[in-house]
Amino acid sequence: MKIILGVSGGIAAYKAAELARLLMQQGHEVQAVMTDAAREFVQPLTFSALTGRKTLTNMFEVEHAIGHISVAQESDVLVIAPATADLMAKLAHGLAGDFLSTIYLAFTGPVVLAPAMNVNMWNHPATQANLETLRRRGHHIVEPESGYLACGMTGPGRLANPETIAAAVARAGAKRTDLEGETVLITAGPTQEPLDPVRYISNRSSGKMGYALAEAAVSRGARVILISGPVSIPAPRGVELVPVQTAVEMRDKVFENLEPAGIVIKAAAVADFHLSKVPDQKVKKTAARITLEFDPTPDILAELGRQKGDRLLIGFAAETQNLEREARRKLETKNCDMIVGNLVGGDLGFGSEDNEVALALRTGEVISLPRASKREIADRIFDEALKLRFALQAAHGR
Ligand code: PMT
Repeated sequence: MKIILGVSGGIAAYKAAELARLLMQQGHEVQAVMTDAAREFVQPLTFSALTGRKTLTNMFEVEHAIGHISVAQESDVLVIAPATADLMAKLAHGLAGDFLSTIYLAFTGPVVLAPAMNVNMWNHPATQANLETLRRRGHHIVEPESGYLACGMTGPGRLANPETIAAAVARAGAKRTDLEGETVLITAGPTQEPLDPVRYISNRSSGKMGYALAEAAVSRGARVILISGPVSIPAPRGVELVPVQTAVEMRDKVFENLEPAGIVIKAAAVADFHLSKVPDQKVKKTAARITLEFDPTPDILAELGRQKGDRLLIGFAAETQNLEREARRKLETKNCDMIVGNLVGGDLGFGSEDNEVALALRTGEVISLPRASKREIADRIFDEALKLRFALQAAHGR
């Protein structure tokens, strides 16, 4: 791979030399780019010697007319290690005052950021907000490690070790095509169940988890049919979007589109109850209190479980307690191959950028995935789903 190694100015800049060496050893071409502040800590010559290429430091020193564009266009992955608080703020806000930040804006491939800084700077709400912005942009963040820091304090802020960063680069740069030829049907978002012509009940699902799954599946080569309740986020490029409002509509569209699907993922938060007879007219405020009687909606996942055939069926479980137990119970009762259990409440689950989930598999295994962006979780779900399908096929001698 052709890798741009950005180095910004922190005490950990010297460790980037080790990363450069490791990436070269793994057979990559590495182009180092240093900020002015980084050069206060390490000499460009160190990186030039390790990479066999002149380290870029100045916007105006590249032979080609538009240096930052050509460097950006020729490379597969941009990794910045260490990424200082200052650099992350620039990246988050699109400031492009030096060579590294202009390359960042001109680069369209995967970006890996390995932050390193003082613990208070790391914990500062401004840094965390910038980090959140960068995470939401889909960048891979290699979390700093906790420990004794050069400033004498102890806590998170130490640059992750070069092997960990190199592994993140390899993952980010791997062009995955393992879903090529596959049709993936995904449901996402909430449903809205009308109470009368102007009112409805719904839930807090933003659609982010389901849309992240759709984006991951498209990027891995799948045809994706995304059946979505009402959300305010754009559909990922390349998906076939089927918008719906109610649980009944979602059920109908799922079964209309089921035939070509080899993998079905039910990330939608479907209402469990609805008014089966919705009044034609707006309900007037004539009484001090009203009582509504709800009927159950169709359980789409359970119905899919009965008709799944050879398909891989993945459901979600949003729980506030007993996550693993509930995930296993739903796996059995709904005849799924995998249940993605998320502990909702706190700052995770509905509407959040990150998620932390436990995957209950048909094989009996439970895999915990630590907190990560929903996009990263989506890729891990597909990784495990493909392994599971392989294991199930092997078990059935297919
Ligand atoms: O959309 P986000 O803001 O990103 O939030 C993500 C999420 C929390 C909504 C998502 O990750 C999630 O957990 N989705 C499932 C929420 C849910 O409805 O859980 P449940 O335990 O009530 O349902 C279990 C499973 O049955 C789900 O796969 C659901 O799609 C399915 N179901 C539920 C009811 C119903 N009538 N039909 C169904 O198919």
